[in-house]
Amino acid sequence: MLYLVFNRLIIRCSTKVLMVVGAGRGPLVRASLQAAEETGRMLKVYAVEKNPNAVITLHSLIKLEGWESMVTIISSDMRCWDAPEKADILVSELLGSFGDNELSPECLDGAQRFLKPDGISIPSSYTSFIQPVTASKLHNDIKAHKDIAHFETAYVVKLHRVARLAPPQEVFSFAHPNFSPKATNQRYTKLQFELPQDTGSCLVHGFAGYFDAVLYKDVHLGIEPNTCTPNMFSWFPIFFPLRKPIYVPSESPIEVHFWRCCGATKVWYEWALVAPSPSPIHNSNGRSYWVGL
Ligand SMILES: C[S@@+](CC[C@H](N)C(=O)[O-])C[C@H]1O[C@@H](n2cnc3c(N)ncnc32)[C@H](O)[C@@H]1O
Repeated sequence: MLYLVFNRLIIRCSTKVLMVVGAGRGPLVRASLQAAEETGRMLKVYAVEKNPNAVITLHSLIKLEGWESMVTIISSDMRCWDAPEKADILVSELLGSFGDNELSPECLDGAQRFLKPDGISIPSSYTSFIQPVTASKLHNDIKAHKDIAHFETAYVVKLHRVARLAPPQEVFSFAHPNFSPKATNQRYTKLQFELPQDTGSCLVHGFAGYFDAVLYKDVHLGIEPNTCTPNMFSWFPIFFPLRKPIYVPSESPIEVHFWRCCGATKVWYEWALVAPSPSPIHNSNGRSYWVGL
């Protein structure tokens, strides 16, 4: 993938500064160096990682591969790191099954301080998608917990025995870098799904969620069923349940509202059905399910 991106990037012959933010065990460091070699570019790489265990693995990898002269490992949270120079390219893999559900927007907002004004982020943008589903087995599994909190939690799950009732629609989008002073990572979307005429009446148990990311220009990667990257098993879909299954009469539209909310210490989603009948707002104030900042 990075090879494709580098081939489309117009990079002059000077050494470019590339920062892998959230380097983990180093696969994107390896891919960046490989892409540079294949396209005849010179790179200076910073690998920024906050997990000390992953940093140990990174040190072993760099030593093993003999990359010491090209790669500097930074053991830090990218949001606090004081970079010694600015980057031409920020490379990251901070995406969850719903795109922005693992704090990629907040982390990259923190990292873009050390991106040059004309620098680029890979990925450059990502979008989440949902579609209503009949998923009685999944709903029963959640019901077995006998509490509301489990119905206000999103699950990353391989979907079996699920009826997808309407084509997925876009929920939230984020683009990087975003230097606008008014930028916010809070979002609100209202979606209407029309069921195909031959669907008849049905029960909706919740919404299946996916993402698609634009890495650079026309190079994309994702799990949205209509455009998903072939043979990629890195992400399962996400499932947002409804507390009570909703009966949808034939030809009735489904309307759902989704919020992405940001507080001082956490980020969370809230969701509510409006039509054909209203549901309570799920996960109000992030009381059951959130990601800590
Ligand atoms: C989804 S993993 C990808 C890692 C890599 N692709 C791999 O396979 O090892 C995201 C990585 O980003 C790191 N990370 C997340 N937030 C970070 C932050 N704010 N600063 C630095 N690293 C971060 C995590 O510790 C994790 O190693």
